Amino acid sequence: MTYRYRALRLLIFAAASLTVIALLSVLASAGTPKGSETKGRAYYRQMCKDCHTKGAKAGEVSPLTKTQAQWRTYFQKAKHAGGSEPLTKYMDDAKLLDVQVFLINHAADSPQPETCGK
Ligand code: HEC
Repeated sequence: MTYRYRALRLLIFAAASLTVIALLSVLASAGTPKGSETKGRAYYRQMCKDCHTKGAKAGEVSPLTKTQAQWRTYFQKAKHAGGSEPLTKYMDDAKLLDVQVFLINHAADSPQPETCGK
C-alpha cells in the first residue's frame, strides 16, 4: 500500500518535471526563428558575400555587422540596400529564414560571434 503510493508520487513528480523542462525550452527558443543555421551560412556565402566582401562597393557585411536584436529587426522589415528593394530579390523567404538564423546566431553580441570570412 505505502509502496504503491510512493511509486505513484514518483511518477507524478517525473511527469511534472518533464512538463516544466518542455515549457522552459519553449520559452528559451522564443524569439529565435526556426531555420537551419548550416544552410543559412551556405546561402549567405553563395549569395550575399558576392557583393559584401571586404573592400567591395556594397561594403563588408558579416554576422558581426549587427547585434541579434538588430538582425531581427532588419529581417522583419526585410528591406535591403537602404530600403530601396526587398531582400526577397536575392532569395525566397525560406532561404532568407535560414540566413537570418545564421546571422543572429553569430551576431556581434551572440555567444559565438563569427565573421564568415570570405
Ligand atoms: C547585388 C549585390 C548585393 C547582394 C547580392 C546583396 N547585397 Fe546587401 N547591399 C548591397 C548594396 C549595394 C547595399 C547598400 C550599400 C550602401 O548603402 O552603402 C547593401 C546593403 C546591405 C546591408 C546594409 C543595410 C542596408 O540594407 O542598406 C545589409 C545588412 C545587407 N546589404 C545584407 C545583405 C544580405 C543579408 C544579402 C543576402 C541575402 C545581401 N545583402 C545581398 C548589395 C548587395
